[in-house]
Amino acid sequence: MRVDRFLANFPQYNRQQVRVLLAQRSVRVDGLTVTDPRHEVREFSQVEVAEQVLQAGRAARYLMLNKPAGCVSATRDPQHPTVLELLPPPLRDDLHIAGRLDYNTTGLMLLTNDGQWSRRLTQPQTKLPKVYHVQTEDEIGAHYIETFRAGLYFAFEDLTTLPAQLEILGPRNARLAIVEGRYHQVKRMFGHFDNKVIALHRERMGPITLDPDLAPGAFRLLTADEIAAV
Ligand code: URA
Repeated sequence: MRVDRFLANFPQYNRQQVRVLLAQRSVRVDGLTVTDPRHEVREFSQVEVAEQVLQAGRAARYLMLNKPAGCVSATRDPQHPTVLELLPPPLRDDLHIAGRLDYNTTGLMLLTNDGQWSRRLTQPQTKLPKVYHVQTEDEIGAHYIETFRAGLYFAFEDLTTLPAQLEILGPRNARLAIVEGRYHQVKRMFGHFDNKVIALHRERMGPITLDPDLAPGAFRLLTADEIAAV
């Protein structure tokens, strides 16, 4: 958000006062004096006015985790272990999950405290593919490809799913790329053909691929390149 809008959101400053503060060189963002009203303030920026801290700077954190089966994609759960509990306590603070997975789904899970970044990754509008390896109970027909590409009507949400790409790898194995994350989406898509998904593993989200060196339950910080790619 622009620094003038950010400051005008505080009850103690109106727009005129904000202009004066900037002109007087009383505003600092991340330690630097700012006079341009268009200067961007991020969720993680430290903002000070006349030595008073209005927003404390924080470090952005980005992690990937190989989610094992049998844990919930939640920050808290009264009954089951959560993915957050797989991280050491100092790292867990204020993290959220970018794209949940079902209890028994495995694979790539991204966690961050950067809301803008996770929205870019998960919003259907950005069309970043979420790629799953799917194993089914019955044989996967070649006709599934066109049905998934055309989209399926989900009555509960009253929407048609966006085009999805299916690559058939074997009689009961496929790779599916979807650009949204509707509730139980993959299972419901195969459910349209009465074909039960018996194993589901997320391999990739947009430009970020699950690190093959991460055992189930293990995590690592994202690299600068991975963060910047989203
Ligand atoms: N689709 C599902 O059905 N389950 C998941 O965990 C992810 C996508």
